[in-house]
Amino acid sequence: MPANNLMNAVVFERYGSPDALSLRDVPRPVPSKGEVRVKVHASTVNRTDAATLRAYPFFARAMTGLLRPKMRTLGMDFAGEVDLLGEEVSAFEVGDHVFGLSPDMFGAHAEYLCVPANGAIARIPGDLPFHQAVVGEGAWYANGTTKLLSEDTRCLIYGASGAIGTAAVQLAKANGAHVAAVVGTRHINLPKELGADRVVNYETEDFTALGETFDIVFDAVGKTSFFRCRPLLNKDGIFAATDLGPGWSNIILGSFYGATGSGRVRIPFPEDAPGCIRRLADLMAQGRFRGVFDRSYQLGEIVDAFRYVEEGQKTGIVVVNIC
Ligand SMILES: NC(=O)c1ccc[n+]([C@@H]2O[C@H](COP(=O)([O-])OP(=O)(O)OC[C@H]3O[C@@H](n4cnc5c(N)ncnc54)[C@H](OP(=O)(O)O)[C@@H]3O)[C@@H](O)[C@H]2O)c1
Repeated sequence: MPANNLMNAVVFERYGSPDALSLRDVPRPVPSKGEVRVKVHASTVNRTDAATLRAYPFFARAMTGLLRPKMRTLGMDFAGEVDLLGEEVSAFEVGDHVFGLSPDMFGAHAEYLCVPANGAIARIPGDLPFHQAVVGEGAWYANGTTKLLSEDTRCLIYGASGAIGTAAVQLAKANGAHVAAVVGTRHINLPKELGADRVVNYETEDFTALGETFDIVFDAVGKTSFFRCRPLLNKDGIFAATDLGPGWSNIILGSFYGATGSGRVRIPFPEDAPGCIRRLADLMAQGRFRGVFDRSYQLGEIVDAFRYVEEGQKTGIVVVNIC
């Protein structure tokens, strides 16, 4: 048990494999003006944490630190209890149960985390337990694409069983869109439970020959391509992806179609994390959004959690229990 001014945190000082992570005693953060300190009960290990640890793709170093990581503790999702208020914070009280995202400085793989009170943080709706409130990361990435959808639109979500895909199905349905979801055999029942209108098994069916077209085809798992999905797109249809694509094709085509003004291929960058968290809080309160959870790990088992996430086989979200 660390002394009062110390806490347990998972620290990394160089980019690399999960072996670069170690559990240490570090000083507890103190909230600055406008910040709250959260006693973190749960976080996640997600693909953003995993990519940041490995500095992948290499140009991400422009944001995360050129030679060494500028943040020493990963963890983007948090859920916990407000335990200390910085000056001029009136939106939260000590003891509030909150969840959110720390999208720039991470830091949630630790017992305490300071975040701006006007940032990506909201009260946990109802009596949802902390470990079911860590739903931010996948939804934030999904929201970059699903915000383009409305009631009279149709979308196909490829890879609807990951953190981004499971969130995308629910956010697209919340926007009123018609949703077709593509998953493998072991997840075949999941998209319907999340509200999808049609489910396609990529292991037994040709998902590019469905006899219907879409306004948006969203590759939520980085496993298909614009050229493969082109027959599914209607005349002004958009191919959106969360990954670089084969041979960086999504970057190359995204730049090309961006220059032509059509935006036919896009990697939507996640934006407005505070707005996304507020929307998730509203949708969860209305019973219209829930996290889909895979395994959970203790903080001391985090290396195993990263190894599992790096396999690219998780169903939804991998939780880290902290307090
Ligand atoms: N660079 C970054 O910072 C960053 C951040 C976030 C996300 N991303 C990218 O976004 C993508 C999605 O992230 P995520 O967290 O949602 O992924 P994830 O949770 O790791 O996705 C895993 C899911 O994908 C399914 N899957 C695997 N192969 C598939 C295939 N060929 N076709 C369809 N589904 C397949 C798996 O189930 P089955 O194998 O049983 O089908 C599993 O349920 C990843 O490519 C990730 O690299 C990048």
